[in-house]
Formats: sequence, structure tokens, C-alpha cells
Amino acid sequence: MKKKIKSNKHIGILTAGGDCPGLNAAIRGIGKTALGIYEMQVLGFMDGFRGLMENRMIRLDGETLSGILTLGGTILGTSRDKPNKMQVGGKVMDMTGVIVENYHKHHLDALVCIGGGGTQKNAYHLMKQGLNIVTLPKTIDNDVFGTDVTFGFDTALGIAVEAIDRLHSTASSHHRIIIVEIMGHNTGWLTLCSGVSGGADVILIPEIPYNIEIIAESILHRERAGKHFSIIAIAEGAISIESHKKIEIMKKRMDETSEDIQNYQQIKSELKEYKTKVFGNTMQLASELTKLTRVESRVTILGHLQRGGIPSAFDRMLATRLGTACAKYIHEEKYGIMVAARGDGTEPVLLEDIVGKRKAVPYDHPWIESARNVGTCLGDKV
Ligand code: F6P
Repeated sequence: MKKKIKSNKHIGILTAGGDCPGLNAAIRGIGKTALGIYEMQVLGFMDGFRGLMENRMIRLDGETLSGILTLGGTILGTSRDKPNKMQVGGKVMDMTGVIVENYHKHHLDALVCIGGGGTQKNAYHLMKQGLNIVTLPKTIDNDVFGTDVTFGFDTALGIAVEAIDRLHSTASSHHRIIIVEIMGHNTGWLTLCSGVSGGADVILIPEIPYNIEIIAESILHRERAGKHFSIIAIAEGAISIESHKKIEIMKKRMDETSEDIQNYQQIKSELKEYKTKVFGNTMQLASELTKLTRVESRVTILGHLQRGGIPSAFDRMLATRLGTACAKYIHEEKYGIMVAARGDGTEPVLLEDIVGKRKAVPYDHPWIESARNVGTCLGDKV
């Protein structure tokens, strides 16, 4: 048995943002190490930052941590509530002060915030109020800056690949185009990796704006070669070249008017509205492709299926690895950090170095080169 190291620390854990497979494995990894090795007291706050604001929590002990490794979702619940912009009694309020007060009221020595990019930002905000913060990177999108990978990604990838595999036989039997829309917010990691692994014929990601004529031409090229079906893997945030140009112009106008608050806010809300209109336009893309190619098309939107259910072995291992290291960093009083996955191990990276940054797919990423080498169209060239 491993030697116990008495630390007397009280720690809190919360999960925030969209859920993903592996969250319970991470809670278990932190909790079991904190209790079993360092003899810490562990509280779990419910529903993200809201639970800490409302003093809703459970004690995490041997019993609550048992049997959760393989469970999907999070036993703590989650929410997208931000400490400084929380809906309270029908109003949006800054609840940072209450959260800081409750942290001290529960005699916490550290707070672990498990989440994606938004959670890193919210956690950093609390760090600047003097709280001892450690974060863990999770999201199916794999877009958290500063870590090799996030847990949740591998499980979602497996689900998306299985979907693409299954869609192949029906697309081929009916001689159809099937477009499968994959999550990932503004990044294309999930679509690119599942598209390459599932052998999609066209892969469309936000980082490479597409030209519909080029997609149509690649489908017609397959038809001429006797392949009377095509699978298109599209990221929910993928956009056309025209939409991308319009967004860039609006962003430039925002930069130019940054001094004029009223004008700036006006363009900002126009941009938000425009993005909502053009993102996830998969049904329209399908009907336009049918017009251009005369090949019948269907759409499958995977949606939250990708976030549900049991975590893959890889995600259980990754979450356990990050969770157990997290307890060690707290014992060593390394605060203001995110526990990043690095190689087979972990690395503490400063929150201030990663907050506000997003890991997008670089245009010259090796996975893109692999996709092109096996003849996949990425919507920018045939
Ligand atoms: O960030 C994870 C994610 O699943 C994104 O891929 C997706 O855009 C978003 O969350 C969906 O959020 P919600 O569950 O709040 O609709």
C-alpha cells in the first residue's frame, strides 16, 4: 500500500461547461488521490460555478467515488454559468464576490475547475480574486490551448467514426450523398480526425472555408469514376469562403471602430447574428449540392450523441492521469495552473499563458496532409 502523506487540505471540485465522457474518471482520480494519499477533505460543488455560488455540494468520499470510473456525464452536474455573469432572479449579475466568500466559508485551500476554454477563463478570473485554482482540460472539441489533448475527444471520435462507417453502406446502397454534421464548436479536430479515420470523401472544417463548386466537382469526379455515393463530414462551424470573407470584413470594421463603443457594439451584434445564420447550414448545403450534382442527398446531425455515454479506455486513462497529478500539484501548492497532458505524463501550465487562446487546426497540420494524400477533398481544392 502507498504511504499516506497528511496534508490537512480542504479542496473543492466542480465541473463546468458542456459535459463530456471522462469527467467522472477525473473526479475519481482527484478524489481518490486526495483522500487516499494526501488525506485531504474533498467537496464536490454541484452544477459548475452555480453550485459554489449557491452552496450546493456533496462530500466526496470512498463511497461517492466508487463505481463512477465508467459512467458518462458528471456526478456533480454542470452548467455554462459564469461567476461574473450569472442569471439570478431573472437578472444577469456578477456573483464573483459571493463565490469568493463561499470558498472561504468552506475553508477551501484550493478549487479544481474541470472544463474547456470558457472554464479556464472563468477559473482564471477567480484566481485573480486570490483563490488557489487548479484546472483540468476537458472537451470533445479538443480546442483547449496548452495541452496535447483533452479528455472527451477520443470517445466522441469513436462515436463519429462509427457513424461514418454505418453511413457508408446506406449511402452506397442508395447512391446518395450523405452529409454527417459533427460537433466541435469553432474548431475542426473532431471532424478532421473522424473524417480521415472513417474515410469520408469530403471533410469540411472551420479552419478551411469551402467553395461549394469545388465540393460538387469532387463528387462528380467520383461519379465519373463509378463511385455513385459520397460521404461528407462537416464540422458544425464550417463555413463557405464567401461567409468567411464577410466575417473578416465585419471583424475589421469592429477593430476600426473599437473607440466608438456604440458603433462597435452594433457591429458586434450584427456579427453574432450573421454567424448564427451561417454556422451549421448543413441542410442548405445538402440541397445546393443536389442541385449542382443531381445526386440525391441526406443529412445526419450527430449532435449530443457524441457527448453521451461511457468514456473510451483512452479517455478513462487520460482523465485518471490528469486527476491524480492534480491532487499531487495541490499537495505541492502549485496553483494558478492547468494540468496539461504532455506525452505520457502531465505538465503544470500557467493559466495566464493559456487563457483566451484556442487551439485551432493549423492549415499545415499533418492530419490535413494525410487527408489530401488519400484523395480527400477539403473544400478548397479538388
Ligand atoms: O464544447 C462542447 C460542445 O459539444 C460543442 O462541440 C458544441 O458546439 C457545444 O458544446 C454544444 O453546447 P450545448 O450542449 O450547450 O448545446
